[in-house]
This record gives sequence, C-alpha cells and structure tokens, in this order.
Amino acid sequence: MRIVESTTTSLSGNAQAAMRWNRKDLLGLRELSVDEINFILETADAFKQVGTREIKKVPALRGKTLVNFFVEPSTRTRTSFELAAFRLSADVINISATASSLKKGETLKDTARNLEALHADILVLRHSSAGAPQFLANRLEASVINAGDGAHEHPTQALLDLYTIREKRGKIAGLHVAIIGDILFSRVARSNIFGLVKLGACVTLVGPSTLVPREFEKLGVQISHKIDNVLPSADVVNLLRVQHERQRKEYFPGTGEYTRFFGLTKERAKLLKPDCLIMHPGPINRGVEIDSEVADGLQSVILDQVTNGLAVRMAVLYLCGGIANT
Ligand code: CP
Repeated sequence: MRIVESTTTSLSGNAQAAMRWNRKDLLGLRELSVDEINFILETADAFKQVGTREIKKVPALRGKTLVNFFVEPSTRTRTSFELAAFRLSADVINISATASSLKKGETLKDTARNLEALHADILVLRHSSAGAPQFLANRLEASVINAGDGAHEHPTQALLDLYTIREKRGKIAGLHVAIIGDILFSRVARSNIFGLVKLGACVTLVGPSTLVPREFEKLGVQISHKIDNVLPSADVVNLLRVQHERQRKEYFPGTGEYTRFFGLTKERAKLLKPDCLIMHPGPINRGVEIDSEVADGLQSVILDQVTNGLAVRMAVLYLCGGIANT
C-alpha cells in the first residue's frame, strides 16, 4: 500500500485509504463524493509518478485477474485499462462481443457469471446499454468498472479529464468549462458534468437545442446555443464527438451545418483565451467538431488526456480491485 501512503498525512496509508475508499465498483461519478473523486485523482498522481521510473510496474494487483469485456468498440479505454492492469501486475484477458458467446445468444449475466466462475476479480465493461455495469455489479462479487455504458456514464473518461484540467491549470474550482456538441447522447458529457459541478467548476453546455435540451440545467449547468458567445470566457473547451451511431436523424442538423454553427474552426479558435485548454475525449472527427490543425495545435491537450488515462485507470483498478476481495 505504499502508493496510497504517499497521499496520507497523519493516519497510516491503509487506514486513510479505507476511510476514503470503500467501493468495489466504479459505475459513475453521480454517486461519488467530492472526497472520493479527489482521492482517485491523488492516487493517480502517485501512479503517474510511478510511470516516470525505470521500472514502471508495481505488484499491487499481483495474483488478480482482470477481464476487459468490451461489447462496443474502443481504442483508448480498452488499451489503457489493459496497460494499467499490466503495470499493476494483474493478469489480463480481453473479450470482445464478436469473439464471445454473446454472439450465440448467451446473456450478459451468464457470460459474467461464467467469467467469475473462472475467478475473474475485476470486470471492466463497455456496453451499449445504460445500466449494464450496475446490473452486473449487483450480482457479482467481482469488482465491476464501467468503461462506458450507452449514453449514461463514462466515469474514467471524466476522471482523466478532471485530472488533466487540474494538472494543467492547477485547480478546477472556479474555472469556466464549456462542453460543446452532442450532449444528449454523450456519456462523457454526463460524467464530466457530475464531476466538474461537484469540484466547483462553472459549466456551460453548448450545441443545437435538439442535442442540448434545457432539462440539463437541473444538473447545475448553463446552456447556450451560440458557441461564439461562450468561447471568449472559457478556460477549458471540451469538444464532443458527433455520435452518428447513437443518433436519430431528426436530432442532428447535418455535418456541414453542424461544423458551421458549432465546430471549433480555426477562425473560432481565435476567440479563445491564449491559455484556454482544448480537450476532446476521442475519437476525433477531424473537420467536423474540431478543425484538424486546432486539434494538433499548442492549446490542445488531447494526447495528454490519453496519457493521463493510464494513471487514472491504474488508480481506479488499484482502489476497486483492493476492495473486491477484502
Ligand atoms: N474516449 C474513449 O472512450 O475512446 P475509446 O472509444 O477509443 O475508448
């Protein structure tokens, strides 16, 4: 438990960790307290430091088995969970929908129970149905980590976004964060809203009224349908991918029109403050929600987000995986 000890003050590492983290699952940011979110970020700090050492591996999850179960496609999340597990010395198995017996009609619950019968300790699940991770977490002893469920939540993406903002700006409270695009269908937006509002950021959601309905104001955010009014005061802009796979046509104005009204073009990027961070969870639709040069420009921290995802996912696996069998 030396990693956690580095985040402690008066209490011993184990006692402090037990007080600040007692969940076997990570399902969303909605249910996490400010202290729990901060504890994950502090634990990620320690793991980021481990990543700078010559030997980047720690024995924290030695003997544990992690199943990466991705029923939807993924590059960043799946790869970084796998690498995070390797760095923590866990054994890792990857399963995709096409290569599993889900294809033959086996239920998700039966698949997961069979994986548990093979002594899987941690199940990282990406699924197209909102609530699938919660469903399994209620039925399994194994730790369940939500790697994105439908349009519901993507907690580790939001945690790595929070981590990146905190790292680059030194704080989150008081910053103005604009989340721009397809909010209605975005699990990234939901998790970011819960995390940012809890940590004291001022959040504005920007997009067409079909994709940014007024109901979101109940979550403690502001809404705007005019991007040019929001960009000059933003400290962070987080551009969301237009999710063609989740949308019905009537919600979406068409790619060209979307770019004209809501895309972060080169011209629009000039409205940003020089120190405004440009973020995107990926994958990027270059030339649609963000201009290609802007995505690769000096204000972009998009690849830093990916790098930070490794430390954040190590922290999540370490904390939840440590609870699962205690
Ligand atoms: N941001 C994100 O979830 O990317 P992947 O779909 O590649 O995992």
